[in-house]
Amino acid sequence: MKAAILGTGSWATSFGRHLTHKWERVVLWGIEQEQVDSINKTGTNPKYLGDIKLPANMRATMDLDDCLNNAEIVFVVVPSQAVRSVMQKVAACTVFPDGAPVVNMAKGFEVSSLKRISEVIAEELESVNKLDSHPVGVLLGPSHAEEVALEQPTAVVLAGSQGADWNHWQTWIAGPFFRVYTNDDVAGVEIASGFKNIIALAVGMADGLGAGDNTRGTLMTRGMLELSRLGTALGGRPETFFGLAGIGDMITTCISKHSRNRNFGEDVTQGEKTPQEILEGAVQVVEGVHMAKAALKLGDKLDVELPITKQVHDVLFSNKPPRQAMRELMERELRPELD
Ligand SMILES: NC(=O)c1ccc[n+]([C@@H]2O[C@H](COP(=O)([O-])OP(=O)(O)OC[C@H]3O[C@@H](n4cnc5c(N)ncnc54)[C@H](O)[C@@H]3O)[C@@H](O)[C@H]2O)c1
Repeated sequence: MKAAILGTGSWATSFGRHLTHKWERVVLWGIEQEQVDSINKTGTNPKYLGDIKLPANMRATMDLDDCLNNAEIVFVVVPSQAVRSVMQKVAACTVFPDGAPVVNMAKGFEVSSLKRISEVIAEELESVNKLDSHPVGVLLGPSHAEEVALEQPTAVVLAGSQGADWNHWQTWIAGPFFRVYTNDDVAGVEIASGFKNIIALAVGMADGLGAGDNTRGTLMTRGMLELSRLGTALGGRPETFFGLAGIGDMITTCISKHSRNRNFGEDVTQGEKTPQEILEGAVQVVEGVHMAKAALKLGDKLDVELPITKQVHDVLFSNKPPRQAMRELMERELRPELD
């Protein structure tokens, strides 16, 4: 049994390490020579995963054919804005076995098209008439790479299109420390997973301004309401937003020291660098920044009000001071809680 993982970053490496307990071979594909060499020669990926040891049945390659050849399943674990270009390479690959599902693990939307990432994957497969032979799924939920690498109990959600036996893949992805639930609401799972990063940015900004638990709790709760409004308008089911990919990931990301989105929000309030400068210096992808742009455009298009998203967006892209953004949220017209 061989699993292919596209990406050699934190999540690709940590998740790949988890799969090696059950799978004979796990092969990562990457574009960074240093990471590929490090995984193969030292059995570590220091840039992304510190000194965590990687087992011998896991290796990395820069040759996509080598990664995909004989793979029974493919996991896409690159930043959301890179998925289309990566999938164009995958679609052109001739050694990619029919029947292998392609599973998105990136959290976000493609900003240029405002599409979910599994839709981007499906579009690229469809463009070469390979969609019928490659079911598309998503595997998302509260799963910090650092904690999965330490084998701390984690639970995620697997959702997918027709054409694959997702219960079969559920058993092959799950492990003693990694519980996998299925859900047939692909849209809901994917929307929730992307959206929570915007709220993590807001909570980070509030933390940076010295706000307390009242503020954190309020942002998460009102953030859930924004997610429900936008998510249902985009075809997700409300109950999904109260599951692992929704409230589960929202809480985890907003309270975690590992969350680069929360941390980024906090850094923005320090005023030493502009959001763009902080982003340029970031080692790892900060998906919430792209998602704030995509969500606001989607909200405008679908006439869905997203006050927290709008303030986060304005801090990131219109130089609005975070303290002013917080004040404007508090000074909005008073209204019933549920309307
Ligand atoms: N890190 C986590 O704990 C975690 C958990 C769940 C989901 N995710 C999601 O997984 C995705 C990847 O996150 P990460 O934390 O592994 O990111 P990362 O920044 O640690 O690594 C990104 C990887 O993508 C590669 N990459 C970047 N641009 C590329 C391109 N154009 N073509 C090919 N490869 C490219 C990089 O070389 C690197 O290997 C994100 O959408 C993130 O939200 C991350």
